[in-house]
Amino acid sequence: MRMYDLILKKREGQALTDEEIAFLISGYTAGEIPDYQMSAMLMAIYFKGLSQHETGVLTHCMAHSGDMVDLSSIPGIKVDKHSTGGVGDKTTMIVAPIVASCGVPVAKMSGRGLGHTGGTVDKLESIPGLRTDIEPQRFLEIVKEIGIAVVGQSGNLAPADKKLYALRDVTATVDSIPLIAASIMSKKIAAGADCILLDVKTGSGAFMKTEEEAIQLAQTMVSIGEHVGRKTVALITDMDRPLGRAIGNALEVQEALETLSGQGPEDLTQVCLQLAANMLYLAEKGDMEECLKLAQEAVHSGKAKEKFAQMVSAQGGDPSVIFHPERLAQAPYSQVVTAPIDGYLTHMDTQQCGIASVLLGAGRETKEAPIDFSAGIILKRTIGQWVNQGEPIAVLYSSRPESFEGAQSLLLQSMTIGDQPPAPERLIYARVSSYGVEKMNPHGSN
Ligand code: URA
Repeated sequence: MRMYDLILKKREGQALTDEEIAFLISGYTAGEIPDYQMSAMLMAIYFKGLSQHETGVLTHCMAHSGDMVDLSSIPGIKVDKHSTGGVGDKTTMIVAPIVASCGVPVAKMSGRGLGHTGGTVDKLESIPGLRTDIEPQRFLEIVKEIGIAVVGQSGNLAPADKKLYALRDVTATVDSIPLIAASIMSKKIAAGADCILLDVKTGSGAFMKTEEEAIQLAQTMVSIGEHVGRKTVALITDMDRPLGRAIGNALEVQEALETLSGQGPEDLTQVCLQLAANMLYLAEKGDMEECLKLAQEAVHSGKAKEKFAQMVSAQGGDPSVIFHPERLAQAPYSQVVTAPIDGYLTHMDTQQCGIASVLLGAGRETKEAPIDFSAGIILKRTIGQWVNQGEPIAVLYSSRPESFEGAQSLLLQSMTIGDQPPAPERLIYARVSSYGVEKMNPHGSN
């Protein structure tokens, strides 16, 4: 088999056989297929697409390119969660403890920040002492002991995805539905859970800019999951504005703690409760209504927050920060951003907000760059709210005051202020399962 012939075949829009897909994934992972040929193949896939069958085979080959985690020693139905990435998305730190405190084991591997989007691993590491590089054996022990662990992806989990993702990042081939679906689902399948809940973001801060594209991605991933015997559900959630008010690692941990105490922002709280309810539903804890009640009760009783404290402690972190968030990293400098004119905040280019927080130090400019855990943005106004000229619209935090000017100008550019209130935005657009697509009302019920 020659890579040249496979590139030509895909370029002409023909389907690749199972053997051909296996050849290109094993060859590329082993370093036998060079980046330039794989780049050409990715671009051909980007333009010509992959059938459902080809996407499934690609996912299977990528999942089996490294370790397959075995969670069978943990009793009960294990449910994993994955977000396609967003700005201010701290849902894992809220949803995972809610679900675990309801008796469903959560053995989760998360990622670091990518581009303008933050990553759970970086956020958790802003808790003093907390480690996410935990040996596989200890990871399983922690889940058996306390029902929850959230760690970094093990070195050899879906190595084909690691290589392909890095190549897609520099060849403008990230935003292809079959490639995103295979990338996400290969990692989820290799991570071993019985059921998978996907949080597919849509809007200006997401890879999928429209609801239609997000639904198509969700359907592709649900069908892959179900095909390999993992019950899979996807919620399509809004990323046309940052989720909650905090963007940046320690700031987001603090907001997650407030939400676990029942005092978080309304949008974040509603999305987290719906995600948690869907995970509990997948774990067969009741019907959707019962599962939503279980999730609410876990927050109101304080047991979800207690579970988070147990996890922090088990992973070497200082659990006192849970009840004393002022012990999290605090930025030495801050700057208030004020509204340039009177009006309603009608739109936010969420990707730009994410980039502004990266400029402040909350994300990495290069792969190896350190993160300033204290850096980020607290939004004082959100979409639909009125603001008077000169009133605070956001506060910037950083250890590098010289970054304020650039971040402020980017943040202000990202915001549109107008004299008419915008149409109310929805938080959850749809729920996609093997039964089809259910459109949701503004708060997420159908
Ligand atoms: N997240 C992933 O893990 N992979 C993608 O391709 C996009 C988002």
